[in-house]
Amino acid sequence: MRLTVVGAGYVGLTTAVCFAHLGNEVMVVEKLPEKVQTLKEGKVPFYEPGLEEMLKENLSLGRLFFTTDLKEGLDFSDVIFICVGTPQRPDGSADLSQVEEVARETAKLMESYKLLVEKSTVPVNTHKLIKRTVERYLKRRGKILEFDVVSNPEFLREGSAVRDFLEPDRIVIGVESERARRIMEELYKDFKCPIIFTDPATSELIKHASNSFLAMKISYINMVADLCEKVGADVRLVAEGMGYDKRIGREFLRAGIGWGGSCFPKDIKAFIKMAKDHGVDFSLLEEVDKINQRRAVQFVEKVKSVLWSLKDKTLAVWGLSFKPNTDDIREAPSLRLVPMLLKEGARLKLYDPKAMENFKKLYPPGKDLDYAPDMYSAVEGASALLIFTEWEEFQRADLSRVKELMELPIIIDGRNIYEPKVVRGLGFEYYGVGVP
Ligand code: UDX
Repeated sequence: MRLTVVGAGYVGLTTAVCFAHLGNEVMVVEKLPEKVQTLKEGKVPFYEPGLEEMLKENLSLGRLFFTTDLKEGLDFSDVIFICVGTPQRPDGSADLSQVEEVARETAKLMESYKLLVEKSTVPVNTHKLIKRTVERYLKRRGKILEFDVVSNPEFLREGSAVRDFLEPDRIVIGVESERARRIMEELYKDFKCPIIFTDPATSELIKHASNSFLAMKISYINMVADLCEKVGADVRLVAEGMGYDKRIGREFLRAGIGWGGSCFPKDIKAFIKMAKDHGVDFSLLEEVDKINQRRAVQFVEKVKSVLWSLKDKTLAVWGLSFKPNTDDIREAPSLRLVPMLLKEGARLKLYDPKAMENFKKLYPPGKDLDYAPDMYSAVEGASALLIFTEWEEFQRADLSRVKELMELPIIIDGRNIYEPKVVRGLGFEYYGVGVP
């Protein structure tokens, strides 16, 4: 099929590259000319395993095209994926101005039937606003053209975006017309997972409800971890014991320093606001968010209780990205932790396999903050090693070497990446989250 994707951000680019990989011809419309240039050269402007190789391959196969011109995109195909950003507004709601712009400009430029597919995470009933906007502008032009709006939310995770796209747990499609349904069925016909057809409002809600539920699972286990620390229980085993119950499931029960990223923090706030706007008090989710905010404060308290004063102490930090396999630091726990530790007078030596360049833009090297070229340089002379992200590289570290390099062999692990017995056996003082 021929497809058009508007917006070459995380979701848009992954969607475009993966659909091209599956044999479709895809035109990506992106406003920023420098981004279009970078992509045409086969470079992905962020780190996502596997994506750049697939981009290059599909460019050379002539299945992937980039343009800054929406008209070119609309002339290219009838199926238009809306993958633009929906950033957070100060009141927590989603800023939909970019979605509105795509709807408006499409209506001004389209000359034949178009199927507008919402991929961006949007509040429930956004499809109605898109529809109304397109209708108004078509009417203004005196054009009678058919179009449909479909909700087809994306559930991919950063760091495993390609696999999540190609092998999803489910595909959710909210449609109103038979014509739109047939196009979407054709598009996804080779996927083996369940495909759920709903009305658009239900589909829009599934996305927000899923993300909020996952965030809630993590906040829940984080509270259980706090309790485990008080009573000498092991949260990892509590999670395992709970997770075997199929009704609960094992995923997203890893206790730690909290969730971050471009989705959970923004989506949960938007969901709370949306519920409030409709007169539904979803204070359960407000608590989920508050628990998450407290994780960083509690972690710093733990560091202080272990090291007493942090003033002029050198602390090594491993991991800055909000999760492994990405260079994304949006809403990462590190962004809350680093300023708090600096305020306590600590000197930080930071290391992350991919996210240091992004972090440097916000925290340039200075008197009390420096970046290490590798994980071992980071721990040299450190009074403690703090782990913020569970990169595999850290799990495979030569801990005997780490111990030799440190001033004091203390590890305060915010992600439970080590087995306490093993690390203690090597002579470390070790503190995890919710582990005895
Ligand atoms: C999330 C959703 O999983 C995805 O379906 C949606 O499309 C976008 O938002 P993503 O933000 O890429 O994906 O990351 P995810 O793997 O879900 O992790 C989010 C945060 O939760 C990370 O900070 C991660 O470290 C944290 N997390 C995850 C935990 O603290 N414990 C867990 O058990 C799982």
